[in-house]
This record gives sequence, C-alpha cells and structure tokens, in this order.
Amino acid sequence: MKNFTDKELIEIINTNKYDEELFKKADSIRREIYGTDVYIRGLIEFTNYCKNNCYYCGIRAGNTKTVRYRLDKDEILSCCDEGYKLGFRTFVLQGGEDPFFTDAKVCDIVYSIREKYPDCAITLSIGEKSKDSYKAYFDAGANRYLLRHETATESHYNMLHPSSMSLSSRKECLYNLKEIGYQTGSGFMVGSPFQTTENLVADLRFLQDLSPDMIGIGPYMTHSETPFSDKPGGTLELTLRMLAILRIMFPYALLPATTALGSIHPEGREMGLKAGANVVMPNLSPIKNRKNYDIYENKIATGLEAGQNVKELKEKFARIGYSIVTHRGDVKR
Ligand code: 5AD
Repeated sequence: MKNFTDKELIEIINTNKYDEELFKKADSIRREIYGTDVYIRGLIEFTNYCKNNCYYCGIRAGNTKTVRYRLDKDEILSCCDEGYKLGFRTFVLQGGEDPFFTDAKVCDIVYSIREKYPDCAITLSIGEKSKDSYKAYFDAGANRYLLRHETATESHYNMLHPSSMSLSSRKECLYNLKEIGYQTGSGFMVGSPFQTTENLVADLRFLQDLSPDMIGIGPYMTHSETPFSDKPGGTLELTLRMLAILRIMFPYALLPATTALGSIHPEGREMGLKAGANVVMPNLSPIKNRKNYDIYENKIATGLEAGQNVKELKEKFARIGYSIVTHRGDVKR
C-alpha cells in the first residue's frame, strides 16, 4: 500500500492526461490481489422516490418531471430470480430515501431474499438511516451497504446539499455501518460543481480514516432538471486517474467501474478496469422502469449495461484480458 503525500496527489490530479503509466501501476496492484477477476453485482433500482433535494441529482424530490415508481416485493424477487439464473450472486437494492419503505418493509424484503438465496450477498444502498435501522436490516440478512460520502469537505458538502443534510450525519452513518459489521462502501463524484483539487485530496484522506471495503466513484453528470443544470460534468480522464490512485492507496478495495463511467464514454468501464477497477454492476431493474431512474442524463441502461447481456459483457471483458466471475465476490482483506 502506498501513501501518497498531498503534494504527489495534487500533481497527479492536476496533470490533465490519460496517464498510462499510473494506470499500469494500479492494474498491477489489482492483479496481485484480485488477479484478472471482475466481480459482478446485479443492481435493482427499486424506488426512485426520494425525500431529499441534493442539488446534483435527477431523482431529487423537487424534480416534478421524473415519473416515479416503486417495485413491490414480488417484482424485486423476480429481478433476483432472473439475476440468479444469469449468474449474479450479489444483489444490490438501491433507491432514493423513500419513506414508503419503512424498516419493516425493508427487513421483510431483505429476509425474503436471504431465505431464497442463502448463497448470495445482499447489498443495500438506501441512504441515511438510524443505527437501529441499519442493525435491523443487518439482522434480517443484509451483508453490505453503499453510502457515498459525496465530498469530505464540509463547505463543499453544503454547496451540494440543502441545509437539511450534513456531512457529519453522513459520516456518522458510515461509522455506524462499519461498527455493525457491514462490508461498507463509500465514495464521491469526480468533477462535481465547485470541487477543488484540495477537496479530492480530502476525500482520499477521509477514506483512509474510514477504511471502507468498497469505494464507488464516477464522473459528475449534468441533469437539466436540477439547480446545477448549467454546471459542466466531470471528465473521463480525471475519473480514471482517481480510480488508479484509489487502487494504489487501497489495494484490497472493491472498486466498481461505475455506470456513470460507462455513460460518459462507450469504453469507459473497460478503461476503468485497466485503471484498477475490479467490479461492475449491471442493471437488473425491470426494463420498463429503467429510464426513470435518471439520477443523471444519458445514463446507459440497455446494451452491455443490462444484466440480461452479461454474457456479451463477459466476452467483451475477456477480449481485454479480464474475467467476469460469478461467486459472491467478497472483499479480500
Ligand atoms: N452525476 C453523477 N453521479 C450522481 N449521483 C447522483 N447524482 C449524480 C449526477 N448528477 C451519484 C451520487 C450517489 C450515487 C447513487 O449516484 O454519488 O451517491
């Protein structure tokens, strides 16, 4: 594991290039720990209702143009069923912060998946909850939790979120999740509005303190129905350099080549793998709902992004030397 100095980090972040040498280094570290394996997660976006109003996000409560949907338990279970047949052994239930899904409902869904698929990992990504709620989901059978910190600098956090949200409660949630025993994932957007190089360095330092199992990053993408509709998106190159830095600093981490990376460039996820990523999260949501989970615009949802096409994705990754595997894909640390 390498610990960069702030000065080294700033230099890498600010050198605006496709940094082949950095990516090779990251890839070789990834190969030492995970070989050429790529872990797959079946993503089930089960509700796009959200009580929050994050300024960057397309499914914010204030966007009245989004067509809202919720999947019921049976629909979620049939996504799992389809996914299981396709070889997925991790299901990620992701949604907005939707009060309709009470703790009792979440626990019931998690428990039903746990009963039916004892050999699978269940990941939740449903935002900030109390420690008791997190514990209840864990006891019902959830193993992993994704909650990006978004930015570790308080003043920046407050530029991206309304005053009802705070970095301190975000962080508290993350430490609670770890304490309960979840494999915990955090992360941030690259190139979010007002982000500085120092903010990115702070993100890395926060992650060193948290020591998460998963780190999800992707470029910020503009959405026209948000207060940030005039803000430019993050770049492919910087996202790739940040991925490589993460692999070098956190050799064991599960690093997804995210949908946002695949949306910004047709080969984005493949470039992500070459820069150190080792996870992809194809979509298992019902096709009819997919376009409505529009946290940002031009999000890929069909093609090789679709869980249904994992066989083709496997072939594509094999051509560049990586192998999709179908076990649970737990962290190696
Ligand atoms: N562009 C890129 N990523 C976004 N997210 C939310 N809105 C956007 C956007 N406009 C990310 C956030 C969130 C994750 C689910 O999606 O980091 O945690």
